[in-house]
Amino acid sequence: MTTDQSEPDETSHGETRTDGGAAGTDDVALDPWGSSTVSDYRRLFEQFGIERFERVLDEVPNPHYLMRRGVIFGHRDYRPVARAMRENDPFAVLSGFMPTGDPHIGHKLVFDEIIWHQQQGGDAYGLIADLEAHSARGLSWAEIDEHTRNYLLSLLALGFDPEAGQLYRQSANRAVQDLAFELGAEANFSELAAIYDFDGETDVSHMQSVVTQMGDILYPQLDAPKPTVIPVGPDQDPHVRLARDLAARMRSFGVTEAYASFETNDPQRRLVATAYETLADDTDEPVRCLEAARFLETEREHGRADAAATTVDSTVTILREAGKEPLRPRVRIVDRDATDEAFEALIEAVDGEKRVYDAHIDTFELSIAEAEQLAREVELDHGGYSFLPPSSIYHRFMTGLTGGKMSSSVPASHISLLDDPEEGYDKVMAATTGGRETAEKQRELGGEPDECPVYELYAYLLADDDDEFAKEVYDECAGGERLCGGCKKQAAEMMETFLAEHQEKRAEWADRLDELDFQFESDRR
Ligand code: TRP
Ligand code: SF4
Repeated sequence: MTTDQSEPDETSHGETRTDGGAAGTDDVALDPWGSSTVSDYRRLFEQFGIERFERVLDEVPNPHYLMRRGVIFGHRDYRPVARAMRENDPFAVLSGFMPTGDPHIGHKLVFDEIIWHQQQGGDAYGLIADLEAHSARGLSWAEIDEHTRNYLLSLLALGFDPEAGQLYRQSANRAVQDLAFELGAEANFSELAAIYDFDGETDVSHMQSVVTQMGDILYPQLDAPKPTVIPVGPDQDPHVRLARDLAARMRSFGVTEAYASFETNDPQRRLVATAYETLADDTDEPVRCLEAARFLETEREHGRADAAATTVDSTVTILREAGKEPLRPRVRIVDRDATDEAFEALIEAVDGEKRVYDAHIDTFELSIAEAEQLAREVELDHGGYSFLPPSSIYHRFMTGLTGGKMSSSVPASHISLLDDPEEGYDKVMAATTGGRETAEKQRELGGEPDECPVYELYAYLLADDDDEFAKEVYDECAGGERLCGGCKKQAAEMMETFLAEHQEKRAEWADRLDELDFQFESDRR
């Protein structure tokens, strides 16, 4: 049961190619506990219905450089967040980190995304997924505590404001666990099994860590519904989809369009809508259900009905049964799980002409948006959460410095935010490049920045907000004016400076951690 609509999307690549040109043919498996590589980003649009970020970019005020450069390549439902930013309405950002190792430059992307949304006025949440690290990865609480401190120090050093935002660890957040418990009542084992490949061997704590993450994702809306963005890697998309489904299942009311007193499913409703619109166009008289049935039968005979044969048949039957009832567009509010008092209050609240049925109200003077707003208010007044489905943005995974994937368990493949600055320098100097075998060839053919992990360092991190500089590196490389030796040296120096400054700020925060309302030492064992 999914409430998400996958958006069909064409397959061309955007011009900003920061993925090292990865266009393989491997199957994409979105596995939150898997190896976190994506060989073909197109499949994420086609198969999973993630939308291209470039399509909302124009709606975002002062987009972050990771957005401008296509590092943030995809999203689900980011528009409400962008709108809230433009209109100075409340919104939130939340992401979480499994404390399984040192934070590295890949995590910096997410830190920056949280911090940027915070600076744009969002309520910001950074959480440590210690329950997940313990249950899904088997880390001890002592290891978890050490890594937790390191993640938080980097998040703070990069600019997270802990006075305005909130930091927490899953194990110490009672409200998250209570919410997770409620959400867990909306999902069952078969569903988790289908989404995460769980089976009879999966331990219960691992499943509990999934509902905990659902609690995390909806936690910013506990007091009031608000657009919330979850910045993550695409491997986390299964979690986002489930959270969006659970948010909808928690709602007391649903709002749909309808044309008559009977109920239809979505494809049936589309057929009735076509029949109504075509027939109403030709007459000022009411269009009766029977006429709509005849219309669909004619369409069916001519092979023009735009739906599965069984759908057409069932729609015709429903319409025939309704006989002389006139078709009349209306906005329907369906009682999903509301208390009697809430349903009564909703009836009261609907202005203008309305018809009340057992489990729905048909309204004739409300737009869909107005009906949704009303349903939301009544739900809130009657103790419901009125959750908005959470939004997400997805960033590309960085290529490892040694080629292949960047992996926490292969030190040479990544730069840890805790690496000595000189070590960072050396790792950049040892990186593979998109350069040619000889300087001559490089001058003649140009390098391949799209295939170059060093270029990625510039685009994802070193160039920071300076687009012109990033473009200059790209153009000089592709044009053959830039040679890898000097290019790497420049990147290595910038990396060294970045690490030195970052670690200075970490050290400053290390002396101030007691200012935070955060439990650094777990009392678990
Ligand atoms: N599952 C995430 C990871 O593997 C961590 C996480 C827990 C998370 N709760 C979250 C991420 C909520 C985003 C939002 O890294
Ligand atoms: Fe990469 Fe720089 Fe060499 Fe171009 S010049 S291939 S960006 S290292």
